[in-house]
Amino acid sequence: MIDRHPPKDDFAADVLNGLSRSQKWIPPKYFYDARGSRLFEDICATPEYYVTRTELKLLSDVGPDIATITGRDATVIEFGSGSDAKIRRLLDALRAPCAYVAIDISRDALERAVEDLARDYDGLTVGGICADFGTPVELPDEALNGCGKRLGFFPGSTIGNMDRPVARRFLARVREMFQPGDGFLIGVDLRKDRDILEPAYNDASGVTAEFNLNVLHRINRELGGTIDIGTFRHDAYYNEDEGRIEMHLRAMEDTSFRVADTPFSMRRGETIHTENSYKYAIPEFVEAAEAAGFWVVQSWQDKRSLFSLHYLTAV
Ligand code: AVJ
Repeated sequence: MIDRHPPKDDFAADVLNGLSRSQKWIPPKYFYDARGSRLFEDICATPEYYVTRTELKLLSDVGPDIATITGRDATVIEFGSGSDAKIRRLLDALRAPCAYVAIDISRDALERAVEDLARDYDGLTVGGICADFGTPVELPDEALNGCGKRLGFFPGSTIGNMDRPVARRFLARVREMFQPGDGFLIGVDLRKDRDILEPAYNDASGVTAEFNLNVLHRINRELGGTIDIGTFRHDAYYNEDEGRIEMHLRAMEDTSFRVADTPFSMRRGETIHTENSYKYAIPEFVEAAEAAGFWVVQSWQDKRSLFSLHYLTAV
């Protein structure tokens, strides 16, 4: 395990700053405390949230193609380590992968991921880098030498949480971490009809609503907040012009509360914006990848054009 000592999240500062803006905002990374992570797993199991299920199926279906493009002895470098089922599908598809390295800001998540894989894949060298992959991460020698090609893996349409210009900068940074010929496999959710998109973020069982509201519970618990959570409603809709799902928490009455001794008040109908989830058309993503210095070897999508996987190589 290599520790690059990423700066710790400052939940209090980010919340106080976000709630002080004219459009109130809480960054979506704060959804994922222990309860939030469980709720996200539950979202993935709802019939409406096609994202995870579709990507997993696509990974199995195109695994042989990915293996052919990659060749033997790859070193897989995962950006984040939250998706055990997906990395296993990739490792199972590849021919004799040599090493697996996860990059994650959470030491705990890293340790778990690395231990679990080491247990089940003997012969695979596994390691973790504790770092923020939003900044340039220098890859250690184990990830450079001794094996075949490097293959970056960034599943889950996690790139969808970045504003489009931030996503372009992210792709350019990832490109700098790699050498010509290295691969980068990325999962990207697609623009589509709102009749499919909106239910995926408004599941009938209300799990996504709980997931969204959970950040308010977290503020009350961890930051001495006095928010009357019953006043707030989950609100998620497709902003088609921006090509993104927006999640908000809408105050149904005028309300006031304190967070870490700072007072806030909201008018009835006012919202706290909690997440953007950007969707791409395939040519739009290909253009962004090429502008960042990648060549798109192949793009795949499922039969219903819900989700896409892209195999990029650094040029
Ligand atoms: C983990 C960011 C890909 O945007 O679909 C799911 C998060 N939010 N339901 C997404 C999420 C509400 C998810 N990502």
